Amino acid sequence: MPERVCIEPMQKRETSVGQPNLILTGFMGTGKSSVGRLIARLWRRPFFDTDKEIETRTRRKISSIFAEDGEAAFRALEQRCVDEWLPKNGAVIATGGGILTSPGMREKLRSRGVVVTLFASPETIYARTRTGDRPLLKTENPLEKIRELLARREPEYKRCGVGVLTDGLSRAELEKSIRRIYRRETLAGTREKN
Ligand code: S3P
Repeated sequence: MPERVCIEPMQKRETSVGQPNLILTGFMGTGKSSVGRLIARLWRRPFFDTDKEIETRTRRKISSIFAEDGEAAFRALEQRCVDEWLPKNGAVIATGGGILTSPGMREKLRSRGVVVTLFASPETIYARTRTGDRPLLKTENPLEKIRELLARREPEYKRCGVGVLTDGLSRAELEKSIRRIYRRETLAGTREKN
């Protein structure tokens, strides 16, 4: 499953018009937003982050939505984001780490672009999320919570999109792996249509 192969930079003539979205999923701290922003810059595509979009549209922080309205209300906003607010094509999209917990979300995301799912070990995730504002990890033992949530969610992550193990990879290496997958998947899509 892990992809660690280096390839040449995306050629300039490849523009975002009519190109499928690249959708990055995976657990918190797997690097979706960070590599997503890099990819958007290198590929010259708009970047879209479901968490940020929800915060902008509701004018509320994710942490307040969780605290005041609960997780179910946040999941409903994620659904709405995917149904109504996502660009149709040409964008790089980073999703919130729990988006796949909503029923039917895997199929929905796959119908909206090339889905790449990022993985990391619990220890790496713990190190990367220690300073962030993640309501679900505000517990006495965040590492234990990460292990528990990962175990519960992993089957769904594994079934959604092409997987990339991010442990030990730089953002540049990760971008190269994702570019290779994206090219392969978009080529496969073209062949299927013909
Ligand atoms: C969540 C992940 C977060 C954010 C919210 C819930 C989750 O996004 O959507 O705190 O349930 O895993 P990131 O994966 O960008 O941290």
